Formats: sequence, structure tokens, C-alpha cells
Amino acid sequence: MDWQQHRDKDKRYHDAIGAEYHQIVVTPRAILDELLFRKIDRIVRAGNRMLDIGCGTGHMLLRFGSFFRELTGVDHSRTMLNAAADNLAEKNLKAELIEDDALQFITKTAQPYDFITCVGFLHHVPPDTIPSVVKRLARLLSSPTGHILIAEPIEVDASLLPEAIANWNELSLAVRNRYSRAVEDPDEAPISRDLLYDSLHEAGLKVLVEKRTWEVFPHNDPPSLKDKMMTRYFKFRYGFSGNVMAVLATVGGD
Ligand SMILES: C[S@@+](CC[C@H](N)C(=O)[O-])C[C@H]1O[C@@H](n2cnc3c(N)ncnc32)[C@H](O)[C@@H]1O
Repeated sequence: MDWQQHRDKDKRYHDAIGAEYHQIVVTPRAILDELLFRKIDRIVRAGNRMLDIGCGTGHMLLRFGSFFRELTGVDHSRTMLNAAADNLAEKNLKAELIEDDALQFITKTAQPYDFITCVGFLHHVPPDTIPSVVKRLARLLSSPTGHILIAEPIEVDASLLPEAIANWNELSLAVRNRYSRAVEDPDEAPISRDLLYDSLHEAGLKVLVEKRTWEVFPHNDPPSLKDKMMTRYFKFRYGFSGNVMAVLATVGGD
């Protein structure tokens, strides 16, 4: 399958799930996000421009947008962008939302950005393009203070998944709602942690924070006290080997 077909399939998938994605995936992740991004939240400084690559329904723009004067989100799915526009308007945040292939966008734009977020995006592009994407993103960071946050599912030995988490997730809302089963899955795969680190290194970026956790999904909407407690318990008990990784990196100087 060539890149165009890969992209079209991905776009079809996200167009199909875009209307429900925020409610089924992003909102229930709030507890996990808190654990994954807490330290990063404290390091990110206010600045002029933020760029969110593969912005989806606005997850990262909603989290960090109020720290920046100009917000840009790029995504190739119109449905995801429509949801992002609604979510941002609800929080009185203004962003330029661009419907484009992110790989094309990052070769066209020349803006320096103080903060770039790339969350759940890299595992949708072919792995052999990851080093060049990271290099290009690094060049778009304002120097020397720019920061980039990358968070992705990573390759781990499947046998490491704690049984307790597997059993818990079987009863999650996403599984019970048969979320996204009506549409063909896109070609996506967890990325290699080593490949990501090599790419960051080659791009001249220095990692400031790495956090890991396992994907844990709540059973209730809104999450119950038990959902919150179990998510925290799983993170602290098993997080070190988890299959989701967030890294905050900088051009240098910090
Ligand atoms: C898993 S979602 C993550 C969305 C958001 N960053 C979040 O944290 O919830 C991946 C997003 O990347 C977008 N995407 C995937 N490949 C893309 C590409 N080549 N160009 C632009 N957007 C892309 C999808 O449309 C989707 O909205």
C-alpha cells in the first residue's frame, strides 16, 4: 500500500469516528492524562505559538492552549477538526485549524513554534518516516527554548500486559460500546521506543521528561471513584513497563 492509500484509509477512519471520538476516547482518558502529563504540565512555559500535529478533536490544544497567543492545529480529518472547533469554542479558545496532511504541512510552514505537540499521531505514519518527521518538527521549534511533547503507544512485549489491566479494560466503555467497529481500522502500530529516542537524538533534541503508563479505560461516564482509584493503582503498580509513553524534549539550553 502506498502512502496515498495509507493516508486515505486513515482519513476515512478518523472521519467515521470523529463525532464520537472525544466522548469515547479523549474524555475518559482524563484520569490517565493527569498521571501521564502532570510533570510536563509544570514544565511547559507560556509563549507565542503552539502547533498541534494530528490535533484530532483538540485534546492538546484544550490542555495547553491557554498558555499561548496563537494556536494552530493540523489534521487531515474534517470531522475531527469540526469536533475540535466545537470543543475549543466551548472553552473560549481560538485556533487556526488546518485540514491538511501533517507531513505536507510541516514541510510548508516556516513558523517557529514555542511548543509543538504530537500526541497519538506518529503511530499513524510509516515507521521509516518517523526520523524525518521528528527532524522537521525540531527545526520548527523556536531556539533555544522550544519544547516538543510526543506521546504515543509504544511496542512492548505483549506478555508484559498485567492480567489485571487486560481484565479491567475488557469491561471498559470503549469495548462495551463497540466503538469504531463499523469502520475498517487504519494501518497503525505502536512505535519503537528506541526509534523514537534515536530520532530525537538525531534531531538534536534533549529529553527532559519521560513518563510511561498502560492504557487503562474507565467503566463509567463520567468515571466513578473506582475508575479513578483503579487507574491510579495500575499506573503506580505497573506503569514503568507501560505501553504508552510521553516525552517532553527541548532544543537545548534548559
Ligand atoms: C489517535 S488520533 C489523536 C488525536 C489527538 N492528537 C489526541 O491526542 O486525541 C490521531 C489523529 O491524527 C490524524 N492524522 C493521522 N495521520 C495524519 C496525517 N497524515 N495528516 C494529518 N492528520 C493525520 C487523524 O486524523 C487523527 O485525528
